[in-house]
Amino acid sequence: MPHILLTGGAGYIGSHTYVALVEAGFGVTILDDFSNSDASVVDRLSRLTGADVDVVEGTVLDRALLTRLFAEKAIDGVVHFAAKKAVGESVARPLDYFETNIGGLTTLTQAMRAAEVWRLVFSSTATVYGEPEVFPLTEDMPLSHTSPYAFTKVTCERILEQAARADPWVLGVLRYFNPVGAHGSALIGEDPRGVPENLMPYVAKVATGEMSELRVFGDDYDTPDGTCLRDYIHVMDLADAHVKSLQALLDGRAHRLNIGTGNPVSVLELHGAYQDVVGRELPYRIAPRRAGDVPKLYADPSRARSELGFEAQRDLEEMCRSSWNWVQARMTGWTFNS
Ligand code: WQD
Repeated sequence: MPHILLTGGAGYIGSHTYVALVEAGFGVTILDDFSNSDASVVDRLSRLTGADVDVVEGTVLDRALLTRLFAEKAIDGVVHFAAKKAVGESVARPLDYFETNIGGLTTLTQAMRAAEVWRLVFSSTATVYGEPEVFPLTEDMPLSHTSPYAFTKVTCERILEQAARADPWVLGVLRYFNPVGAHGSALIGEDPRGVPENLMPYVAKVATGEMSELRVFGDDYDTPDGTCLRDYIHVMDLADAHVKSLQALLDGRAHRLNIGTGNPVSVLELHGAYQDVVGRELPYRIAPRRAGDVPKLYADPSRARSELGFEAQRDLEEMCRSSWNWVQARMTGWTFNS
């Protein structure tokens, strides 16, 4: 049974990927500093999988810890989630992003190289495409950055490209579009601290009453309803893509892929779908555009289908429903099925 190290495995995408990997028969160790995740997720992962969770508290910036981890555990591959990911925050604190995202990758890969662990899935993002003009987005399109966060992801991809010329790395670079939703059990989901930056968790807080209304950042874009288009993908589909990515790496098949649905959805369409699930009006108002937003981002998902046999299965309604179920369960403290 291959054993995988998930850096940032207690986070939103990491925790869902943990469940999918365990269910696919992998052994998994989580490394997380809990800077952007709640330690209670570990108990809920244990409830979900029916087994203890092997978790190590620490940061990928700690080379000595990583060296010990690779010496103590027979690790066959790594999925590297641990990074800072808030675009707005990266503009305010770029050095923190360079240190954690770029320094974290170089520290991790140096420790992997020393242990001769060469299989790595790297968590990248659609924002490496900058402000594209042609759609849908394919993997060979040029990269650019519109924020320090995007700069770190473009730089990390370029670092990995060059590292693979010098050593026998087997790399899976996955460019996520917009992950949303939650596991069907409602035991894990997106749990942003404070006021959410991202659309669906903000709509969820309007639905619970924590926020009074949704601000739609601009309705004067060149799109069918004037609001921005994004490629929202259910987080469990994204988790499944990681399982397939690791299976490909274990077969020696490297790849660099968009992970999306290929279906562009507008801000107002997502708001409407969430409102339908909740069953009552969720107030919103049109607000000024948000700096840094691009009008459209959606994938051509065909290469993931041909190279991994991956295709997103869950639709927008399931994305909204699973999010709403999770948000309600978290408010009740998961008293159901206790
Ligand atoms: C989506 C759309 C907003 C909030 C970012 C990162 C990306 C990834 C996901 C890390 C935009 C609009 C939002 C709100 C709104 N993060 N919106 N009101 O910006 O596409 O992607 O988060 O991996 O890398 O770039 O996602 O959910 O913030 O915004 O109108 O309160 O919703 O303007 O058009 P985004 P988002």
